[in-house]
Amino acid sequence: MAEVDLADIAGAVLIDAAREAAANAYAPYSRFAVGAALLLDDGTIIPGTNMENASYGLSLCAETVALAAANTAGRLRDVVAIGIVGGRKTRGGLDGSDPVRPCGRCRQMLNEAAQIGGRDIIVHCASGDGGAIERHLLSELLPHAFGPADLDLH
Ligand code: THU
Repeated sequence: MAEVDLADIAGAVLIDAAREAAANAYAPYSRFAVGAALLLDDGTIIPGTNMENASYGLSLCAETVALAAANTAGRLRDVVAIGIVGGRKTRGGLDGSDPVRPCGRCRQMLNEAAQIGGRDIIVHCASGDGGAIERHLLSELLPHAFGPADLDLH
């Protein structure tokens, strides 16, 4: 099976894994819990959740936390897809009817993985209430990206 097929089929699984991660979000300031789950080319799933700080500007997004975990495992170049979900925590899960799309910084972080891996990354975005799901390509979310290729390092 081609990698891009695996990444497409895995959308619902990735969003489920992201939702599980969001339960551990540390977001006492915004109260907006986000979960992310990366899919690697061998089927491995790597979760991440947002992690805020009393010094607000230091807060880390779920996508970036997941990418750092992939890098720690030596797998940054193997990312094929990501699932993202977020919302305010409710008793039953998360609220919100708009899909959570990665912020600008996280798009740039994802682009690093995409360029060193030599592939586009599929981005599955879900709303907290689960009612809305979108599928994007990173290249659509961050067109004309600056990346490692521009530095001639890879
Ligand atoms: N956040 C993420 O973790 N990922 C996104 O894609 C959007 C925003 C976090 C950052 C902050 O902790 C909270 O959501 C509110 O912005």
